[in-house]
Amino acid sequence: MAVPPTPDRMLEVAGLEVTISNRKVEHRILRGISFSIATGEMHGLVGETGSGKSMTARAITGLLPHGGAVTAGSIRIAGRDIVGLGDRELREIRGPVVGMIFQNPRTALHPLLAVEKQMTNVIRAHRRGTSGKECREQVLEHLAMVGIADPARVARAYPHELSGGMAQRVVIATVLVSRPTFLIADEPTTGLDATVQRQILEEIASLQQRLNLSVLMITHDLSIVAQYCDNVSVMHDGLIVEQGGKREIMLAPGHAYTQRLIQASRLEGIREEKGSAA
Ligand SMILES: Nc1ncnc2c1ncn2[C@@H]1O[C@H](COP(=O)(O)OP(=O)(O)OP(=O)(O)O)[C@@H](O)[C@H]1O
Ligand SMILES: [Mg+2]
Repeated sequence: MAVPPTPDRMLEVAGLEVTISNRKVEHRILRGISFSIATGEMHGLVGETGSGKSMTARAITGLLPHGGAVTAGSIRIAGRDIVGLGDRELREIRGPVVGMIFQNPRTALHPLLAVEKQMTNVIRAHRRGTSGKECREQVLEHLAMVGIADPARVARAYPHELSGGMAQRVVIATVLVSRPTFLIADEPTTGLDATVQRQILEEIASLQQRLNLSVLMITHDLSIVAQYCDNVSVMHDGLIVEQGGKREIMLAPGHAYTQRLIQASRLEGIREEKGSAA
């Protein structure tokens, strides 16, 4: 019998296993992970490099790399199990339900299209027949929504004319024009300088509140979790080794690996303080 969806859960991942087969060698990338995100929650997914954070995001969006497959478990988004859905059905979920912000904003933007054109393409992909005037209004509205002071100028710009922080704001605006209710942010501020990092995270947190978004915030930085997330799952080697409210986990980490992550974040914080004092 099908399990009825829990109405307040945006995401329910249960017993998820993912393997990637390369030249007949099978790598078990996710080894049975379970976690869930409530509607309107910001959930942190932390873990060291290679632990499987991005693969979790890719599985959730149905975008596993070549050779990758879900071999067990379920992924319910707003109550609907997406494992095994075809491309067409996944496209109905990607965009209007789940929006994804990747680490490098440059790769998310088409280098040869002005910002307005790329955003218009996204609007028309989801709401065919939207008039030119409406598209323009929505482009400007969404650029302003992510804190861009002069949306008309940025709308005319090409990606290479934007700073890293501005490019990431444009990516977020472009994701938001599809009106998703669930945002996955995979290390959205890596590579940006500390001040811009803070601004982008503040922007995401503020959008989450204003639009009641559910957010999966992927990071290796526990200070981001401490500041912005409600709950956290800690990944290590394809498994979730610990999860719960961020306070409980940060104050009383049960797993040696989480303790090391907390230690590393403290050292990073001290380094940053020293750097800004210099
Ligand atoms: N195309 C691929 N083929 C085979 N293995 C892969 C492929 N892509 C990633 N992997 C492996 O999957 C595992 C999980 O990778 P993943 O990218 O999810 O890690 P991550 O936690 O996001 O790390 P990071 O913090 O560096 O982004 C790693 O061991 C990685 O080597
Ligand atoms: Mg990653």
